[in-house]
Amino acid sequence: MTRWLRLTSAGAVSAAAILSIAAFGGARAPRTETEDSVARGRFLVLTHACGDCHGGGNDPAAKGFLAGMTLPQQEFRIGPCAAAPQDACFKTRPRNVTPDNQTGLGRFSERQIFNALRYGLRPGETPDVEITSMTPGQGNFPAHPKYLAVPMPWPSWRHMPDQDLWAIAAYLKRGLKPVSNKVEDSEGPPDFWASEYTPEKIGTYPAPAFPTVNEKR
Ligand code: HEC
Repeated sequence: MTRWLRLTSAGAVSAAAILSIAAFGGARAPRTETEDSVARGRFLVLTHACGDCHGGGNDPAAKGFLAGMTLPQQEFRIGPCAAAPQDACFKTRPRNVTPDNQTGLGRFSERQIFNALRYGLRPGETPDVEITSMTPGQGNFPAHPKYLAVPMPWPSWRHMPDQDLWAIAAYLKRGLKPVSNKVEDSEGPPDFWASEYTPEKIGTYPAPAFPTVNEKR
């Protein structure tokens, strides 16, 4: 009890100190929620290698940062050709994720970007709605989901907390300048990768409780 009280009063002192600094103009104006969210989104984008595929690597000052594929070597070949080079492949292409209205994410809402990162749903082919179920056809989850092409790593990114995914969406939409770069659409199977994105292949969201058979306390 005493310890709790002591902590509380220390907290009160530092809050008062901050307030008085602000009052005397000694501190910068407090950051707004938007600025915090964009800054967090930038940090997450830089630490999750988005630019390695979407352009510019980990340098936000690089030309074409996040503007999507510009060179043939940024294209992926997914499918049977991996095992047998003469066989066919789907060519998939990292898209322009800057907020350009014609060629980037400008025409999509932050919720559509959130739904892309949490559920792997293509923003261009999935309505702008809040999704409350993972069962196709229920809770606004599309009956026939159109998933993002492999190898966009959304099955990993989906495990970030909501707030982090919203922060990434905020950064992409509000923290970047639009760059016009039309990326040719990815190729893919008629089921839009649904058979690649089953719980057997990518696990479940949320992840199974800790510890699983591979883990220990
Ligand atoms: C391994 C390569 C790779 C990495 C890393 C990657 N992406 Fe992607 N991403 C892709 C590909 C390929 C597509 C295109 C999918 C398609 O055409 O269906 C894509 C598509 C997207 C889309 C959908 C854009 C649209 O217009 O449909 C968003 C949003 C996106 N990525 C955001 C991100 C973010 C944010 C990160 C980092 C947290 C990231 N990506 C990391 C490969 C990658």
